[in-house]
Amino acid sequence: GAASKDGYRHFMLKEIYEQPQVIAATLEGRLTDRHVLVKSFGIEAEALFKQASQIHIIACGTSYHAGMVARYWLEKYAGVPTQVEVASEYRYRQVVVPEGTLFVTLSQSGETADTLAALRFARERGYIGSLAICNVPGSSLVRESDLTLMTQAGPEIGVASTKAFTTQLVALMLLTLSLGRMRGMDETCQARIVQALRTLPGMIGQVLALDSEIEALSMAFAEKHHALFLGRGAHFPIALEGALKLKEISYIHAEAYPAGELKHGPLALVDSEMPVISVAPNDELLEKLKSNLQEVRARGGELYVFADEQVRLEEAEGVRVLRLPHIDEALAPILYTLPLQLLSYHVAVLKGTDVDQPRNLAKSVTVE
Ligand code: G6P
Repeated sequence: GAASKDGYRHFMLKEIYEQPQVIAATLEGRLTDRHVLVKSFGIEAEALFKQASQIHIIACGTSYHAGMVARYWLEKYAGVPTQVEVASEYRYRQVVVPEGTLFVTLSQSGETADTLAALRFARERGYIGSLAICNVPGSSLVRESDLTLMTQAGPEIGVASTKAFTTQLVALMLLTLSLGRMRGMDETCQARIVQALRTLPGMIGQVLALDSEIEALSMAFAEKHHALFLGRGAHFPIALEGALKLKEISYIHAEAYPAGELKHGPLALVDSEMPVISVAPNDELLEKLKSNLQEVRARGGELYVFADEQVRLEEAEGVRVLRLPHIDEALAPILYTLPLQLLSYHVAVLKGTDVDQPRNLAKSVTVE
């Protein structure tokens, strides 16, 4: 049933394992062979998307990290200038809204107080309209937005968001392709990403099969007090999300940096007590990331690298490499989220924390 653990030890683990199905459900009926069906966003979506020359994305917590990934995608593939901001900052400042800007909120619950307040604030600011990407039908955010796209993650009980995040990313790729198509995105590239989306549930299943390897890695973290996550490009927000997961459920202090910023501060913290986790899919930034990794190694830092199976990266003293199946570069941020979820989960279990109900946190923050 919806609120049972189905034999899993925690809701969080169950929800991690549900990702192949809920991603498939989020794609269901929304793709053709080569394109995304724009009407998935509502009958008025096509007209509104055509007018959209800019996007402002507002969210909180994990949903904010999904928005940060979307900024890389929307600018790279659809050429739409995009800004992303946490709702609690956005709602209290003087925002400049360029003509033709679409307002987008991301929320699992649709009831987060700051996100909802941001939507209400935005209504007076001259946006062309609002889109909510949300997991709860009938929620306040859904009712008050012009357009909605539902993620089909099903009820998420674990306070640390997992399947809601990856389905948001899928929804945001649907948005990217919809806008891209209207703005002359290369047809071959569109079709390639659509095909990759279709194979995504199966690929997620392959990554879940690495669970026991990731569990074995988690032992190295249980006694640590700090951890550093590195990523570049669209994987920087994935590093942020990995650090957030570790903080939320294992209470280990974790930070994330875009790998290129390492030398501007965090390198000073790196020693053998500071494990460094890096997401290194096989994209154009890999060579740069490799030199960042050497900087860490040279300071005695222990490195844990999640990398594409095709990447030439050797394991060595202090360098553990965990291989992920090769995936289309566009969708790599979704796939690389999984090992970070599993890692935090296993570290928390080792530490004996309350995985599904971490101290001081709420599933949905409905008051400011
Ligand atoms: C709380 C939850 C987080 C979530 C955030 C935003 O802090 O603990 O997991 O990411 O709220 O929630 P929303 O429902 O708006 O996505």
